[in-house]
Amino acid sequence: MRAINFNHGEQKGITLRATEIFQSLRRLAELLAFYLRFLWLNFKTQRGFVKPGAAVVEKSAGEAYDLWSESYDFQSGNLMLDLDEKLSSGFISRVDLTGKHVADIGCGTGRHWPKLFERMPRSVTGFDVSPGMLEKLKNKFPLAKVRHIENDLLLDTPDGSFDVIVSTLTMAHIPGIEAALGAWCRIAKPDAEIVITDFHPEILENGGKRTFSHRQTTIAVQNYVHPVPRIAEILQEHGFRLAEWKEITIDESMKHYYARRHALPVYEKYKGRAVIYGLHFKRGHGTE
Ligand SMILES: C[S@@+](CC[C@H](N)C(=O)[O-])C[C@H]1O[C@@H](n2cnc3c(N)ncnc32)[C@H](O)[C@@H]1O
Repeated sequence: MRAINFNHGEQKGITLRATEIFQSLRRLAELLAFYLRFLWLNFKTQRGFVKPGAAVVEKSAGEAYDLWSESYDFQSGNLMLDLDEKLSSGFISRVDLTGKHVADIGCGTGRHWPKLFERMPRSVTGFDVSPGMLEKLKNKFPLAKVRHIENDLLLDTPDGSFDVIVSTLTMAHIPGIEAALGAWCRIAKPDAEIVITDFHPEILENGGKRTFSHRQTTIAVQNYVHPVPRIAEILQEHGFRLAEWKEITIDESMKHYYARRHALPVYEKYKGRAVIYGLHFKRGHGTE
C-alpha cells in the first residue's frame, strides 16, 4: 500500500510539474508574441511603412502636423526631407541674410534654422498653423519668434516687415495661394527675396500623398495641387522675378528609400517624374 501511495504521489508530482512547465512555456510564448508585436509596430512607425491596401486617414495640415510633431525630427531615411535639405541649402546659401529680417512660413520644428542663424540674420520669425510643430521649435530655440497663424492673410504682420521669406515643403498645404502669396508679398520689403521648395505638383496630381505613421494609423496630410508656373505668375504680378528654378527627378539613386519602405511599386510608378522643386524670386534688385 505504502509503495502504491508513494508511486501515486510521485505521479501527481510529475503531473503537477508538467502543468507548471506547460504554463511557463505558454507565458513565455505570450511574452515573445507581445515583444515581436511591439518590435513590428515600432518598425512600422519608424520606417513609415504603409501596408498595401491599409486605410489612410486624411487630416487638415494643422491637425496632422500636431500629430506628426512627435516624430518629425526623428525621420531617418525620409526621401523628401533629404532632397529638400540638399535643395534648400543651395538656395539659402545664395541669399545674403546678413543683418536681414527673415520669415520662415511653414517653419515647422525649425529644421532649417541652424543654417539660417549661421548666415547672421538680424531676426528669424517662424509662421505655422500647427501649435505642436511650433512647440517643438520653441523647445530647440527658446528665444525664437514664432507666430501661430489661423489663416494665410498674416493680418497681424505689418507691411514691409521682412527682407527674405523662406518656405520649405509647405506650399501644397495652402488651399488658396493667390491670397496667401499676396500676403507674403505685402509683408515683404520692396527689395525682398523669396525662396520656396515643395513636393512637386506633378506627383500630387498623380495620387502622391504626404503620409506618416502615427500610433499604427497612416495619416495623409491634405494637399492642394498648385502648378509651379502659377506660383511664379502670382509672384510676378507682385513685382518679383524668377532668379532660379530647380527640380529633382526620381531616379535609380533614390530606389533604396522605397526599398526600405517596401514601396518599390511606388518607385516604379513615379520614377522619371519631378518629385520636388525649388524657386528663388527677387524684387527690386536690378535686372540680373
Ligand atoms: C512638411 S512641414 C515643413 C516644415 C519645415 N519647413 C521643414 O522643411 O522641415 C510643413 C509645415 O507647414 C505647416 N503648414 C501647413 N499649412 C500651412 C499654412 N497654410 N501656413 C503656414 N504653415 C503651414 C505645417 O504645420 C508644417 O509645420
